[in-house]
Amino acid sequence: MLAGEEGPAAAKLLELLVALGEVFEAERLVPVESAHISGVSYKNLGEAGLEWLGEQADLGARARIRATLNPAGMDMDRWREMGVPEEFAEGQRRVIETFERMGVEPTCTCTPYLIGHVPEFGSQIAWAESSAVCFSNSVLGARTNREAGPTTLASAVTGLAALYGYRLDENRRPGAVVDVEAELRTTMDYSALGYVTGKRLGTTVPYFRGLGRPSLESMKALGAACATSGGIALWHGEEVTPEAGEMKAFIDSLERLSVGEDDLKEEVARLTKPLRDPVIVLGCPHSSLGELAEIAGLVEGRDMAGKLWVFTSRGVYGEAEEAGHIGVIEAAGGRVFRDTCMVVAPLKEMGWEEVATNSFKAAHYMTNMGLRTRLGTIMDFFS
Ligand code: F3S
Repeated sequence: MLAGEEGPAAAKLLELLVALGEVFEAERLVPVESAHISGVSYKNLGEAGLEWLGEQADLGARARIRATLNPAGMDMDRWREMGVPEEFAEGQRRVIETFERMGVEPTCTCTPYLIGHVPEFGSQIAWAESSAVCFSNSVLGARTNREAGPTTLASAVTGLAALYGYRLDENRRPGAVVDVEAELRTTMDYSALGYVTGKRLGTTVPYFRGLGRPSLESMKALGAACATSGGIALWHGEEVTPEAGEMKAFIDSLERLSVGEDDLKEEVARLTKPLRDPVIVLGCPHSSLGELAEIAGLVEGRDMAGKLWVFTSRGVYGEAEEAGHIGVIEAAGGRVFRDTCMVVAPLKEMGWEEVATNSFKAAHYMTNMGLRTRLGTIMDFFS
């Protein structure tokens, strides 16, 4: 492949993976079964990124394993309704077309595991998008490093990845025990716990004790926040995640930290500003069917016109539409958009200033973008 027998694109992209493997002293390459590609929003890619993607497609790059896409910068159908500028929409359309030419599924979601792209336990995969990486490593027990857009495309096209990092048993062991002393009641509590943990541990793999019985939604929120404030790519939860049992043997000598109610409250306060009339933005990571059902139940019969935006994937949107949840949210004046989210859409350029959310990841990035944020639970917003 390196010699060009499978075309110039595969050779060039394999060179990238080999170089990466050399940097990390990988012994060899391994086959990977699935790829999830980030770097899709035109906001982040710009013309330079689009040009690079176009070059790969022109050179004949084609995915040889299942490859899905992270969110784009807009709902691909309803971008006008979002207020996305025409020029941006044109650039975004070209990005998606280029990925499609390379055989990548235009799923445009950060929760591919909610729409049937679910890697098996122990499988080697190449996923980008830090929240999806955390979910696949921790909850599914698949094996990936925190990949970047170009390396995931390279893995999609070559079917390979360099064997280092979280692909190896020894690097999947925990480096610290986190004793949870706070009562975790809502998805936002798990998000707060993840944010505090990431801040304290950086990239160290945590072994949580006292997580209770988190729902799928709470686990996606926990991982997203861990990955945002620190860079955690894998966490274990005692009696919760599939590798935790075998990891118990390694925890005795580890550093211990405890996280209590006050730690969580402190982080909520830090990302909460007094706001006058914020738009509530939900769905970071992209909403599940259960979350859309909950939102629909809470807004039914209310007037949320211009006050609520929810983000999800096309797959989940379809299921929620069938179940009647989308109709209820939209009848209340809320908007449910697909393909994008509050962080990758050009909200600032669209004139937004204030937002309320239940996601620490969203609040973190929106604060960095210069928006004022408030954190609260879904119940806080609608009660
Ligand atoms: Fe997903 Fe966007 Fe949040 S990509 S994890 S909804 S920042």
